[in-house]
Amino acid sequence: MSDYTLRRHAPLDARSTFRVQARAELLADVRSATGLADLLAHPDYAALPALILGEGSNLLFAGHVEGLVIALSMPGIRVLSDGGNRATLRVEAGERWDDLVRWSVARGFHGLENMALIPGSVGASPIQNIGAYGSEVGEFIDTVEAFDRQTFDVVRLAHADCAFGYRDSIFKRSPERWIITAVEFVLDRQRPPRLDYAGVRETLAGMGVDVEREIPRPSQVAEAISRLRSSKLPNPVLIGNAGSFFKNPSIASSVADALRNDFPAMPVFGHSGDEAKLSAGWLIEHCGWKGFRDGDAGVSDMHALVLVNHGRASGEQILDLARRVAASVHERFGVHIEPEPRIVGATW
Ligand code: EPU
Repeated sequence: MSDYTLRRHAPLDARSTFRVQARAELLADVRSATGLADLLAHPDYAALPALILGEGSNLLFAGHVEGLVIALSMPGIRVLSDGGNRATLRVEAGERWDDLVRWSVARGFHGLENMALIPGSVGASPIQNIGAYGSEVGEFIDTVEAFDRQTFDVVRLAHADCAFGYRDSIFKRSPERWIITAVEFVLDRQRPPRLDYAGVRETLAGMGVDVEREIPRPSQVAEAISRLRSSKLPNPVLIGNAGSFFKNPSIASSVADALRNDFPAMPVFGHSGDEAKLSAGWLIEHCGWKGFRDGDAGVSDMHALVLVNHGRASGEQILDLARRVAASVHERFGVHIEPEPRIVGATW
């Protein structure tokens, strides 16, 4: 028996953190790399369009899904080498991201702690190069193992081949091509912690950690980040959401300077050469959307960058709200903002 199960017209309601109703024409639950290879070699399924699902924390189903939805659930963390200060880990795609963070900080490894509590699976983490509080996952990735649907081979992509950028990678640009099966990380015990992001030092101080006198342990930083996130971002277990719905826009520095003349309080960061980044959350809040609700689709009252499902909103209703938010930001500030999660079944 193969290591996968297949269902037709399967409900996807519980398969995304937005918890909108949707159905998959075919849903495959895959429990091993062999199961995945068997499924993809099957003549009935090999040529079907496929959507790969981890924890469903970074997508919006805006309609029913044609073709195959492949839910990968193979877990596993293995130490490939441990030289004392430096270790290489191989983590299977279905492992939960936050479980990996907890595992690594408990062993004294620095690196992943600023990304504690990000929802999602390890296999999804390189796709949009997840990041938070001054760190991005790509920095710690040595190799990504992926099934290439063009050649039907399992390939090993080195860090440089992944083209990591802000919420971007080759996997995001060609989602039909790659199915990530495992990720290899390099972590070390000596790396100084990153405490510069607003609120991190203060939260550590509130936990009784004096950062002027001691170097906080990775587990303490992870705990501080978890507290910060919980105070700022709505919990997807309590209210449907996919984290930031929009990316922070990059614009020409000259345009950012002109905007700052008109709106002196507007945060501008990452000002490097010709490019500057704006805070999409600030732009959205200053168009009056924070806490807005239309039926069950809404903008979080905790963080304006997060769209929420108060109960029975459809994916289309959330997408419609997202378009209204983006249009009003453009009208007021002349800046285009773009969605961060993958939108399935509709185009932006
Ligand atoms: N802000 C507002 N109103 C809001 C929210 C934010 O004005 O409702 C302004 C404030 O000025 C604040 C600034 O935006 O100082 C930055 O806010 P925050 O620190 O929350 O960061 P962000 O840029 O809004 C990014 C990531 C988050 C990540 C945080 C912390 C993106 C798209 N989002 O948000 O990632 O947790 O930084 O590092 O880059 C995610 O990707 O799903 C996600 C939650």
